[in-house]
Amino acid sequence: MNISTPLLLDTSFKKEVFEGLTAFPKYLSSKYIYDAVGDKLFQDIMALPEYYLTNAEFEILSTHTQAIAELFKDSAEGFDLIELGAGDGKKTKVLLKHLSENNYNFVYKPIDISENAINDLKSSLSKELPDLQVDAEKGMYFEVLERLQQYNSRKKVLMVLGSNIGNLLHPRAIEFLSKLRGIMNEDDLLFMGFDQKKNPQTILDAYNDPTGVTAAFNKNLLHRINRELGGNFEVDKFKHWEVYDPESGTAKSFLVATQAMKVEIKSLNLNIELDPWETIHTEISQKYTDKVVNWLARESGLEIETSFTDQSNYYKDYVFRKK
Ligand code: AVJ
Repeated sequence: MNISTPLLLDTSFKKEVFEGLTAFPKYLSSKYIYDAVGDKLFQDIMALPEYYLTNAEFEILSTHTQAIAELFKDSAEGFDLIELGAGDGKKTKVLLKHLSENNYNFVYKPIDISENAINDLKSSLSKELPDLQVDAEKGMYFEVLERLQQYNSRKKVLMVLGSNIGNLLHPRAIEFLSKLRGIMNEDDLLFMGFDQKKNPQTILDAYNDPTGVTAAFNKNLLHRINRELGGNFEVDKFKHWEVYDPESGTAKSFLVATQAMKVEIKSLNLNIELDPWETIHTEISQKYTDKVVNWLARESGLEIETSFTDQSNYYKDYVFRKK
């Protein structure tokens, strides 16, 4: 292996794959699961009976629509509703419909890393809610945050649904929340979903469905490396494995090598070896309590204004304000 190789890696995907597969223990970042195939598989996950998160948050937005709308309202100037990771907007549409039908003065600005998702959302919104003002944008969270600085002329509401923050370890979650705080003014709100601690079996089942959709989603990382970086992973020789630690609240996904393997990744100029039962850690999905969310908020210079939960208390949407 040539020591200068990382310098030649021209994209963060290449760079991070190189770093993760030459580290011990090996890891890959879950954010790279989401290409066109990964997007589709995540849609399938959201439709799984075991994946309670989507239904729980849908229930919250459907039952507390009016209370949420009242919080967002600004009678003088109206507001900008900026959603990071909007996806197909299925959950948000419940709220958008209410806001639109009740003539709230606002612009909806969905942002997503997936070009496909943004285009589909734009066209479905123009059909379903033709009066809605939409200003969609493709981009990664941290890229667009800088540009969002400009939204200063009136109240803004930042929205991050789906417990996407759960993919970040606490220090990085604090970094993310602090960055969001950095673009917030006095009256701005942050509306964010946090999946809650619950029966460990329920959590394990959500990330280990019997139909294998989650396994396929996880393995898409290896397929994507094969497709885009000239890799030759024998994907079928890996096993999807999920663990949940009820103390820390961390669900972790792994790909486990079922036998010794040699893998070449051409465009990284990289050859790696896996021992039998060696792991590649791919994702964390953190579960929270009020105490932990309070702590994260405090560390990030935010405070919790209120929160909304579903009937089973599986999931919570918190409303934060700048402290
Ligand atoms: C989109 C990050 C919230 O961690 O629950 C679903 C992704 N991974 N099943 C999650 C995911 C496996 C999901 N998030």
